[in-house]
Amino acid sequence: MKILVLNGVNLGRTGMREKDVYGTQTLEEINAELCGFAAAHGHEVSFLQSDSEGALCTAIAGAEGNFDGIVLNAGAYSHYSYAIRDAIAGVTVPVVEVHMSNVCAREEFRRKSVLTEVCRGEVLGFGKNSYKLALESFWL
Ligand code: DQA
Repeated sequence: MKILVLNGVNLGRTGMREKDVYGTQTLEEINAELCGFAAAHGHEVSFLQSDSEGALCTAIAGAEGNFDGIVLNAGAYSHYSYAIRDAIAGVTVPVVEVHMSNVCAREEFRRKSVLTEVCRGEVLGFGKNSYKLALESFWL
């Protein structure tokens, strides 16, 4: 399978920001691990991170016909971006939503994601392993 791992706003600073919440590994280091994890199971992953809502929508639309699935951590956009929600609803490629932190155990505004309803499923609270579990969901 070909899976797109898409990270949104501020995720490029993983390993540098709020280390107690998101850990000390950089996104590049996490992505390298995911690449090895997928390859060990015979699958291929591509990566994109953008702070731009529009770029994320464009990437979701562009995944149609080119990827078998998307693992998406949209960051704070998850909580209010109807544009990203519409982009997900507009493609047939399945999207699994990811959060490294347990957003349900944090501030009130993080408890609601406007994306979940249009995603195949959601993995949250397992740090970098949230990405691995989301990836695995595509081939289990
Ligand atoms: C996050 C949770 C979001 O609430 C937050 O805005 C992020 C990261 C997570 O991975 O836990 O930037 O998506």
